[in-house]
Amino acid sequence: MKQITINTVIDVYDDLKELDPEAQKLMEQAIEARSNAYAPYSKFTVGCSLLLENGEIIKGNNQENAAYPSGLCAERVAIFAAGANYPGVSITRMAITASPVDDSFAKPVPPCGACRQSIAEYESRQQQPIEIFFMGASGTVARSNSLADLLPLIFDRNYL
Ligand code: THU
Repeated sequence: MKQITINTVIDVYDDLKELDPEAQKLMEQAIEARSNAYAPYSKFTVGCSLLLENGEIIKGNNQENAAYPSGLCAERVAIFAAGANYPGVSITRMAITASPVDDSFAKPVPPCGACRQSIAEYESRQQQPIEIFFMGASGTVARSNSLADLLPLIFDRNYL
């Protein structure tokens, strides 16, 4: 028997203002996207913005449905929009903000497992890491160098 140890490095910033200007702007776009989320059932709103290598910013937010599983998370709304409209253009950075609608959450909220798997597909497809920033409604911001850091033992095209 042997053991495998997996290390993940996450940078934690006390405040949005500590980020570089480009990342700050990207998070501000995510905050704006969150304000347009459609989440009447959970009342938990999420905004996501992506920076593409061509400078474009793509935004997404969670879109819920009365038939609950038909809804979709903000991150997947954003990356699928990028894939649909800018095929072949790499995503370089992603910003996520999530909280109950009353803005009560001030701790970083990481993307859910299904979104991590979907984002992983993009990293694999573009052969380039996506830097990911995530926060609550305010306060601390967390940053990972890539999706791979958030999803160890990833299942990807290499297994097919
Ligand atoms: N949600 C996201 O948009 N992204 C995540 O990574 C986690 C959850 C949404 C889905 C649902 O509309 C609401 O948050 C509560 O789960």
